[in-house]
Amino acid sequence: MTTPTLEIHLSDDDLTAALRSDARLGLTAQQKWLPPKWFYDATGSALFERITELPEYYPTRTERALLERVVGAIARATQAEVLIELGAGSAAKTRLLLTALTTRAPLKSYVPQDVSSAALCAAAADIAAEFPGLAVRGVVSDFTDTLHILPRGGRRMIAFLGGTIGNLVPEERAEFLASVHTVLEPGEQLLLGAGLVVDPAVLVPAYDDAAGVTAEFNRNVLRVLNSRLGADFAPEKFRHIAIWDSAREWIEMRLEATEDMTVTVGELDLTVHFARGEQLRTEISAKFRIAGLTAELAAAGFDTEQVWTDPDERFALVLAERR
Ligand code: AVJ
Repeated sequence: MTTPTLEIHLSDDDLTAALRSDARLGLTAQQKWLPPKWFYDATGSALFERITELPEYYPTRTERALLERVVGAIARATQAEVLIELGAGSAAKTRLLLTALTTRAPLKSYVPQDVSSAALCAAAADIAAEFPGLAVRGVVSDFTDTLHILPRGGRRMIAFLGGTIGNLVPEERAEFLASVHTVLEPGEQLLLGAGLVVDPAVLVPAYDDAAGVTAEFNRNVLRVLNSRLGADFAPEKFRHIAIWDSAREWIEMRLEATEDMTVTVGELDLTVHFARGEQLRTEISAKFRIAGLTAELAAAGFDTEQVWTDPDERFALVLAERR
């Protein structure tokens, strides 16, 4: 086996600096908010893995089953030699893709990218062991501003699975897709996994499970602020909320203060007041319609080659080609 390499383009100091600026911006805003990427410290990543196994959380298993069904078709539709996976995390679903692309397409190298070096390091080592002959080169970075550091050369496919694109608001999505377009050469491909708009009776419980794992995942962002920025949030005094915004077609997760509170963020010299009932927005998870997705891709310079969905049309995989 070839030893995997791990490139760190995001040091602990960079992460802390970004967290400080996000926390200051979000906690001093009129409508308080925090970006969802801060959920994912080791505890948060483990909680997310548990979410993916919950009966209510259908996206992961739906996407996996869909991938299982269509990897052969994806392999036939690509000549990719390099697979770059954005937000690879534990790379659980990637094995399906790697198996198909190494046996039926000329894939030679795999470049998993993630903000979490712990998750990435483990995934890169496992995959390198499972796929001898595949060069594995992990990149620790923030996908929204480090696309330009991804490797060039070899025909590439960028995979962005799991529905993480839904964490971006429409303007951020447009900007993100435009930068993917910029880094790719004409003819190179993007494989996008996106959650579709489904019945809120199915959707909302996926983000508000009976066992309360999502609630703990949500509150974990406060623990991250406590440990990384010396804040003194009492996470148990915040109630988890998941609501479906039917106009914007996204799920919004929030944390609601159950009493009046004053929180200090030591490292920021910041005091933040929460009134009882005040809500802090921690994530948006947008859901899509196929027509909207292909329109957004087209606007960013991608031709949609194929779209696959599961039988219940809860999740879509889109293969698009850079024009
Ligand atoms: C990892 C961003 C795809 O939005 O469904 C799961 C994160 N949040 N439960 C999603 C999440 C609450 C997840 N993504």
